[in-house]
Amino acid sequence: MSRRSNRSRIRSTVIVLSTAALVAAGAATVSTSIAEAATGDSLGVAASKAGMFFGVAASPGRLSSFVGQEFTQLTPENEMKPETIAGSGGSIQNTGNADTLVNYAQNNNMIVRGHTMVWYSQAGSLQGANQSTLNNFIKNALLKWGNKITYWDVVNESLDDNNSGKRRNQWPHTLDKDSNNDGDFLDDADTDYIRDSFKQARQVVQSNNLKTKLCINDYDIEGLTVKGGGKNNKADAMYDIVKKYSQAPYKYIDCVGFQSHFNDNPNSIITNDLEANIRRFGELGVEVHLSELDIDDDLSNNDIGTGQADNYRKVVRACLNVPKCTGITVWGISDSESWRSSERGLLFTGGNGSYQKKAAYTAVLNELKKGRPTDPTPTDPTPTDPTPTDPTPTDPTPTDPTPTDPTPTDPTPTDPTPTDPTDEAACRISYTDNTWNSGFTAAVTISNTGDTPVSGWTLAWTWPGNQKITSSWNATVTQSGSAVTARNAGHNAAITAGGTASFGFQGSYSGTNTTPENFTLNGSACTVS
Ligand code: XIL
Repeated sequence: MSRRSNRSRIRSTVIVLSTAALVAAGAATVSTSIAEAATGDSLGVAASKAGMFFGVAASPGRLSSFVGQEFTQLTPENEMKPETIAGSGGSIQNTGNADTLVNYAQNNNMIVRGHTMVWYSQAGSLQGANQSTLNNFIKNALLKWGNKITYWDVVNESLDDNNSGKRRNQWPHTLDKDSNNDGDFLDDADTDYIRDSFKQARQVVQSNNLKTKLCINDYDIEGLTVKGGGKNNKADAMYDIVKKYSQAPYKYIDCVGFQSHFNDNPNSIITNDLEANIRRFGELGVEVHLSELDIDDDLSNNDIGTGQADNYRKVVRACLNVPKCTGITVWGISDSESWRSSERGLLFTGGNGSYQKKAAYTAVLNELKKGRPTDPTPTDPTPTDPTPTDPTPTDPTPTDPTPTDPTPTDPTPTDPTPTDPTDEAACRISYTDNTWNSGFTAAVTISNTGDTPVSGWTLAWTWPGNQKITSSWNATVTQSGSAVTARNAGHNAAITAGGTASFGFQGSYSGTNTTPENFTLNGSACTVS
């Protein structure tokens, strides 16, 4: 697998952002049960219009009317964790507070993300349980609330810290067995508590005709890279798990939660490739949620925004730009009521039902109101028909034979030759990719280095390797063998002299992800920088 240098990775981040807008629309239609109840100018309403939920984690003590007005989704912050509701043998008990939250959500037309079933922490009487007890709990939890829970976190925080790309050592991983010692737990002969927990959950959902969607949730899996530009091994490990268990023959996993607790930890920063990482999971067919969002307002290590509000804006934009990103949940209402109050990481100040909006709130609301990207389907970039209207003059023969000059005005049409874009291409190409095991996204920026504007472009190149493009945005990209052509979208057909146009795509490869060669713009060779 090829990894590009840190330097090119940093350069790529700029381009990814400049092309961030305008991926194909078709915003995932989130369940119609998504609240329309949030009223007026609220995060929930703006998100609903963009086809996603905007939710909050809360406990019963936070349930003022404000919650239902502002948000369309609710996550019990602690009330559905096994330490609260798991009894012996995987039975369910003590659900009063969870019921209060579920009822509040129902009465306020909010959907619920159940959180969480199988987790090393806050496990209560499940701590150390075998798979059969876990399966009992999974079944009981699913049946207790049925379709009142739209999404359930079945497995939480299965992966280790410090970017190891490994699973956590402690229970429930102690149930796992690597039968062939190949370092993963994904072989059929392996014992894998993640697979077995999802298998049980899927079976309960199916045999009871539930609509509940089954999620896996973790933190530090948000970007393709970590601070310094190195690979995010934890994200890659999660990708492998989701890839395996969301696809046939398993089809166990419906959704993945990127917790999104962004802070100073080098593995928890906001990277510019957040959107690309959301996209690669989305391409697996699963929904992606930013499931526990808070953003430390100390920016020393957050390398993307120019302040907390800007960081929030960019994170929300990354989600909006990927149709499969179907919801965002902030992990609490106000800074002082947050589990990490010292980070001042939420959208409100104040407390006890009386809240003041922060700049971050306005940034999020405004970004949500901009909505999903519009459909970038290109209008035909072919130059408008250059054929002149019939140059034959209207009959010059005067009716009056008297010799006023019968010569018609010059019938020669104004030059009907279309502007020939091939003469005009003088171009420089910036190409950067973000590569993982077998896939990559790439951002391309075309600079028109000539003196003449370009109106309508075709950029061609060849792959030295076996890359295959699977989707694109801001251009229509077709491939034949190793030859690729990208034709402009409607909105970026014109490139002024000195101007740029950008587009991007996703692809797969095996072996080495080599960079493209032989770029030509409208037939003329381009330089690459
Ligand atoms: C946190 C709660 O916010 C705290 O009140 C509690 O003391 C500890 O757990 N990842 C998760 C959440 O999946 O369940 C955690 O919630 C925050 C980190």
